[in-house]
Amino acid sequence: MRTLVIIKPDIVGSGKIGEVISILEKNRLRIVAMRMEKLTVERAKEFYREHEGKDFFERLIDFMTSGYCIPMVVESEGNTVEMVREIIGNTDPSKAKPGTIRYMYGTNLPMNAIHASDSPDSAKREISFFFGSEYC
Ligand code: PPS
Repeated sequence: MRTLVIIKPDIVGSGKIGEVISILEKNRLRIVAMRMEKLTVERAKEFYREHEGKDFFERLIDFMTSGYCIPMVVESEGNTVEMVREIIGNTDPSKAKPGTIRYMYGTNLPMNAIHASDSPDSAKREISFFFGSEYC
């Protein structure tokens, strides 16, 4: 199974890209597509469209467009969506378990280091958004 991961602008800016990728690879996730992109406001709003109207939406869009991010498609055996969500930890870094990526590299919301699709359907939509449906 495949899912979409985004290394967020806080990690790109602090020079920790390699450390985060290394954690993903040590957990036997294979990277099958990856690039750097500075999201436009329009593209960020489209990506996070299900959260439009929530009180944090503008803050989230400001952060996600503040610098380069690194979308990637990762795959593994089994339920990759669930496995990656466990490795990255709770959305809020202050609630993430020790050992998770957000615990180690997140700061607060929205600076939580990394995004991963939350369901197989989201994974398909999000992989298509960045790389095209042939990567699903
Ligand atoms: S919700 O309300 O349960 O649907 O939100 P959640 O699924 O936890 O998070 C959805 C994305 O919104 C980001 N988020 C926030 N950004 C800024 N401030 C606050 N308070 C906040 N709460 C949630 C959160 O980081 C999620 O984006 P990703 O990219 O998945 O981390």
